Amino acid sequence: MEDALVRVVNLCKVYNPGENEVRALDHVDLEIHKGEFVAIIGQSGSGKSTFMNMLGCLDVPTSGKYYLNGTDVSTMKDNDLSVVRNKEIGFIFQGFNLIANLTALENVELPLIYRGIDRKTRRKLAVESLKKVGLEKRMDHKPNEMSGGQQQRVAIARAIAARPPVILADEPTGNLDSASSREIMEILKGMHRSGETLILITHDNGIAAQARRVVRIMDGKIESDTINEEFVEEA
Ligand SMILES: Nc1ncnc2c1ncn2[C@@H]1O[C@H](COP(=O)(O)OP(=O)(O)O)[C@@H](O)[C@H]1O
Ligand SMILES: [Mg+2]
Repeated sequence: MEDALVRVVNLCKVYNPGENEVRALDHVDLEIHKGEFVAIIGQSGSGKSTFMNMLGCLDVPTSGKYYLNGTDVSTMKDNDLSVVRNKEIGFIFQGFNLIANLTALENVELPLIYRGIDRKTRRKLAVESLKKVGLEKRMDHKPNEMSGGQQQRVAIARAIAARPPVILADEPTGNLDSASSREIMEILKGMHRSGETLILITHDNGIAAQARRVVRIMDGKIESDTINEEFVEEA
């Protein structure tokens, strides 16, 4: 089989080493291949955010290894880590994290500027990704002129614009009503069908059940890792 895009080996994260230490991740092993749609689910305090921070190169483990797209990122310093993060990962957050005084188009273009992509290509990539999420008619709108569901679609367009190999979504429907939530899940499923690699962090069984593979964490350990038999590849 092709090398894993994400390979985590014996990963541990210990907060406050010593007397009051918390083992937020306790010897975690996980491989995710290109094109997979994986939900990581666990209750509050199970270690989801900690794991998300590791997978997203926002923090480094106390011990163990993390190979992202073939590179060992587990011992990288902040500068190198942020370069890897910008190149390899598209983030989708619960709170959208859009910039209020920029239009949808400008929000999607912003990370492309940091990647040194020229103006013309930037515009083209941003317009393409806004079309993919059905927002071609809202490109000049600012976040406060859009619904929550539309704002999250802008955030998705921003995450995919530079075509990073991994999309990491942290409770992407957590702030949305059920109709918008369904709409966002449909977009994510469509991205999976078009070959994207998606990692979705959630505490919600109903959301996790829509992924093809479900990894359950508890007390910093992987409790189960199953393929969702009901998953429908062609919706
Ligand atoms: N910065 C921190 N310092 C100390 N303990 C932390 C810190 N962040 C998280 N924890 C602890 O680590 C465990 C896992 O937390 P977290 O990863 O936030 O879980 P979840 O996102 O699933 O709610 C919890 O016991 C939490 O209290
Ligand atoms: Mg959390």
